[in-house]
Amino acid sequence: MKPREIPIKELIEKLKEEHSSLPGLIDDAIITYKTGNLSGAFPVIAEVRETLSQHIIDEEATLLKFLLEKLGKEASEPYIKILQDHPKIMKLVEQSVESTYTGWTETENDLNTLKEFLAEHNKQEEAELYPKVISLL
Ligand SMILES: [Fe+2]
Ligand SMILES: [Fe+2]
Repeated sequence: MKPREIPIKELIEKLKEEHSSLPGLIDDAIITYKTGNLSGAFPVIAEVRETLSQHIIDEEATLLKFLLEKLGKEASEPYIKILQDHPKIMKLVEQSVESTYTGWTETENDLNTLKEFLAEHNKQEEAELYPKVISLL
C-alpha cells in the first residue's frame, strides 16, 4: 500500500473524515455480528482494516515526513509520540480479524477496545498533529 498522492491540506480533510466515519463502521461490524450475520460482518471488519492501513501509512509517510523535514527530529518528538500509538491500533485490528476465525467470542470486545483507543488517539491528532502540519504549509 502506498501513500495517497494528494495535497496535504486535502489529505488532512480526508483523514478527519475517516476519523468521523470509522466509529460508525466499527459499530456496523458489531451490530451485523450481533444479529448473527457473521458473513456480513466480516467484510465490514475487513473494510476497517483497509481504511486504517491506508490512513496510518498517510500519517506516517506523508505527515510525519513533512514534519521531520520542516522541524527536525527533536521538535517533531511530541508528534512522533502520538504516532507511536499506531502499532497498538493495527494490533487490535489484526486481533479483531483473527478472533473472527476462532469463533467470534472475542471479536466484539476487540472492536470496542479498538474504538475506544481510536477515539483518544484521533482526538490528539486533531488537536495537536494536524494543526501543526497545517501551520507549516
Ligand atoms: Fe493516527
Ligand atoms: Fe488519524
